[in-house]
Amino acid sequence: EWTSEAFAEESEKQLREKIGDDKVILGLSGGVDSTVAAMLLHRAIGKNLTCIFVDNGLLRKDEFTTVLKDYEVLGLNVIGVDASDEFLENLKGITEPEAKRKAIGNTFIDVFDREAKKIEGATWLAQGTIYPDVIESQSVNGPSKTIKSHHNVGGLPDFMTLKVVEPLRILFKDEVRRVGRSIGLPENFIKRHPFPGPGLGIRILGEVNAENVRLLQEADAIYINGLIEEGLYDEVWQAGTILLPVQSVGVMGDERTYEKAVALRAVTSTDGMTADWCHLPYEFLAKVSNQIINQVRGINRVVYDISSKPPATIEWE
Ligand code: XMP
Repeated sequence: EWTSEAFAEESEKQLREKIGDDKVILGLSGGVDSTVAAMLLHRAIGKNLTCIFVDNGLLRKDEFTTVLKDYEVLGLNVIGVDASDEFLENLKGITEPEAKRKAIGNTFIDVFDREAKKIEGATWLAQGTIYPDVIESQSVNGPSKTIKSHHNVGGLPDFMTLKVVEPLRILFKDEVRRVGRSIGLPENFIKRHPFPGPGLGIRILGEVNAENVRLLQEADAIYINGLIEEGLYDEVWQAGTILLPVQSVGVMGDERTYEKAVALRAVTSTDGMTADWCHLPYEFLAKVSNQIINQVRGINRVVYDISSKPPATIEWE
């Protein structure tokens, strides 16, 4: 019978045998997968693990600093790299979703490669790949979350000459959460909603720029904090806010406004392959809508996405 305790114990033993006294680098994302992978490695090889956490400027509001602090509490050896400007620069003029993913993926590789080179003597690259990622990266059209699928055409980055270790490769998401819990990972990490690697970059329809990111971060923070405060966060598999590339007319006092709109999305799912839109209470939606429109200058309309997957994907891009 599979138990998370036995998995954690066995995995640590195997990692220790496999890696010995070698050095390992791992890219942390703030998500549960990379965090559990890091914790297992940390338990197995301690200080020989160095983690890199890149701020791509497309994270949720304040997420980089909060998560970095949380990682320090966990005792992980983490290097935080703020590369926001570089990502935004490389996204200029790009509107097509797959082109955005490529630009973000390539920038990530450049940044990661640069940082990885500074870690002397590393011979392993650890990744938080889980079983559904393995399956998806085998299908041609599936969204790919592995570093490999983003690789540069003009030659492989240096870190790709590293040997790859993926401690969670045979696990489903709920199993990853159980393992995380059994090794004492705090609930705020365990229960965190999935968040796409390209982040808010694929939730800003159209061109991504600093002002759009700021608008979306503000609106999204109101929505997510609202879900937490109302005790709804844990009932939702994934939630997020999408900045739409339309302006619509509104009134404020005697003034006519012509401003942006956001869509709120919340879904229930078990693995992200299929998903149903969440029937969030009207009172909650009304409250969040008011808060966003009153507090975020530049947004005058909020809509709720009532589409399920298939055919509508969870992300809009
Ligand atoms: P879709 O939009 O395909 O999303 O229904 C299914 C799940 O995958 C996430 N997603 C991504 N994750 N890179 C990622 O790391 C991506 O490019 C990407 N696209 C979608 C999405 O957030 C959802 O959890």
